[in-house]
Amino acid sequence: MGSSEDKVVAVILVGGPTKGTRFRPVSFNTPKPLFPLAGQPMVHHPISACKRIPNLVQVFLIGFYEEREFALYVSSISNELKVPVRYLKEDKPHGSAGGLYYFRELIMEDSPSHIFLLNCDVCCSFPLPDMLEAHKLYGGMGTLLVIKVSAESANQFGELVADPLTKELLHYTEKPETFVSDLINCGVYVFTPEIFTAIQGVFTNRQDRANLHHISSFEALQSATRSVPTDFVRLDQDILSPLAGKRQLYTYETTDFWEQIKTPGMALKCSELYLAQFHYTSPHLLASGDGSKSVTIVGDVYMHPSAKVHPTAKIGPNVSISANVRVGAGARLINCIVLDDVEIKENAVVIHAIVGWKSSIGRWSRATGDYNEKLGITILGEAVTVEDEVVVTHSIVLPNKTLNVSVQDEIML
Ligand code: GTP
Repeated sequence: MGSSEDKVVAVILVGGPTKGTRFRPVSFNTPKPLFPLAGQPMVHHPISACKRIPNLVQVFLIGFYEEREFALYVSSISNELKVPVRYLKEDKPHGSAGGLYYFRELIMEDSPSHIFLLNCDVCCSFPLPDMLEAHKLYGGMGTLLVIKVSAESANQFGELVADPLTKELLHYTEKPETFVSDLINCGVYVFTPEIFTAIQGVFTNRQDRANLHHISSFEALQSATRSVPTDFVRLDQDILSPLAGKRQLYTYETTDFWEQIKTPGMALKCSELYLAQFHYTSPHLLASGDGSKSVTIVGDVYMHPSAKVHPTAKIGPNVSISANVRVGAGARLINCIVLDDVEIKENAVVIHAIVGWKSSIGRWSRATGDYNEKLGITILGEAVTVEDEVVVTHSIVLPNKTLNVSVQDEIML
């Protein structure tokens, strides 16, 4: 361990049940951050990346889910990581910067010199040690991970302009209506503790404005009270935009992979990216199909050790099979996530799909999706039964349904 000035903590924002609504129906009973990508909970990927930060002393998950939803995962990952991981529950959403500020005393308990802040719903290689090095050289209050995307897609993100030489953040706009730049914010940051002073500054400004309105007119007061609550602070609009161009924020560009994880379809794509990354980070997690008795594996596949897959099944590429799954003879699985306790019976086919916990797919049945169709991949919620010889195409099936007739392009409530 280095000197106390070197201590680093990481904070991962996990949101809460009112966030991530586009992730339904697979987030009805499982918090989105615990949904498995490449066989590991979504939040596991950024936490594992934190392992590579020199002098990391603590990892905090901040959210407004109930504590019990994270208790099991947090205790097992703390043991695995050998660094304490704590879940901190907000009493209500405080926004991405407000949540960090709310727990400032706990975060500063070990007097860290640097604080990483990561959005839980981004998928990337998290080049955290390199970011930290760059941040120390820049000498600012914060450094953002940024990436170039296509000009057509940039307006879905925070667009920014950076000085090509100094890498200083010069301009920042969240989801602009007119094109600003193809350089975007990845939702991964490193800050010095001065970030808390910057957030405090937002509160103070708001308070001053509210007081001014109070004495000017009833109408002004009304408009002040209509705006966001005073303790709700967004990192992008309230901190990054106003501090751009003030020599406090800098950028570190990644040329590696980066995606957001907002919908189940995006989760399936990100599962593929993480499986590909396992070749470098965790090759032991990739299934291999060798020997006459083992199943045929194509491309990158994760299979939980408790899964029972018939030797005549063919699996992959991009397939993740969770605990206690049973796959019958002759079944074919391509580009799918199969969650705990699912049964896929003989000769069933699953392509471009997510199969929810405890669901069952009958003999000679098919569950297939298509990214180019309106509903995209096929999603079966928890405990869905697809009976024998039934075809489910580009459809979303809500939990506990039994399908005994074929469906196409439908949302089955
Ligand atoms: P959307 O496209 O609207 O989803 O916005 P975004 O991707 O910019 O996300 P946003 O800034 O709302 O959130 C970034 C990250 O912070 C996500 O991982 C959220 O789950 C998380 N987050 C957002 N608001 C809060 C909050 O009030 N508290 C906590 N703990 N996390 C939050």
